Amino acid sequence: MPPEDDSRWRLTDEYFERHLCGEDPALRDVLARNAAAGLPNHDVSTLQGSFLNLLARATGAQRILEIGTLGGYSTIWFARAVGATGKVITLEANAHHAETARHNLQAAGVADRVEVVHGPALESLSQLALANAPAFDLIFIDADKPNNPGYLERSLELARKGTLIIADNVVRDGQVIEDGSTDPRVVGVRRFIDAVGQNPRLGATVLQTVGAKGWDGFAMLLVD
Ligand code: SAH
Ligand code: DHB
Ligand code: MG
Repeated sequence: MPPEDDSRWRLTDEYFERHLCGEDPALRDVLARNAAAGLPNHDVSTLQGSFLNLLARATGAQRILEIGTLGGYSTIWFARAVGATGKVITLEANAHHAETARHNLQAAGVADRVEVVHGPALESLSQLALANAPAFDLIFIDADKPNNPGYLERSLELARKGTLIIADNVVRDGQVIEDGSTDPRVVGVRRFIDAVGQNPRLGATVLQTVGAKGWDGFAMLLVD
């Protein structure tokens, strides 16, 4: 992609952010703390966070499951959406990320409704199913992409008719169409998309995005 286009994507994101998102010191502090703690900037963008927040509110989600917390940036958008009566459970394998997220959630004033579960997400998901966790209204898959097929399978055990499942990073600069790719992240996403396409229980689409995070996209699945 020519760098010129990429910079126009970023400037266009900035334009919409400036007009629609307003000042948000709490979220700005989170990104600063993540950078200081050495976390990668793999958080969703501001406009994407706002999109996830609107989806959660539009569907009246009260129970949200997130796979891949990082510093809790997307978690905070979800926690704000469910409000004080709701619950967000977020799964994170990296102890330093989980600790940073707990700190950030506290500082953002939403720790009361969020549980950060430290450990490999496949195991945490099995634990939730074993414990007969009530179904989630919305599930956000955003961790290690090679495990996406497993995350889908286990998410379906924790879903009900009407659950919305969103998976981040399914486009990755268009790499998803490379059927000979040996990149395990691409392979994981392609297997995930195959599994979605073959599952009659799922209505699905992909929303490709450009902006502050380059060219990527969200898969959106509705469980029947
Ligand atoms: N949702 C976050 C970004 C998540 S980045 C946001 O938008 O703000 C992906 C995260 O998944 C990283 O923190 C990484 O440590 C975590 N991760 C990677 N492999 C994992 C696994 N097997 N189980 C749980 N988390 C994992
Ligand atoms: C990567 C992971 C993400 O979840 C993301 O949003 C961007 C990049 C990565 O592993 O490179
Ligand atoms: Mg992501």
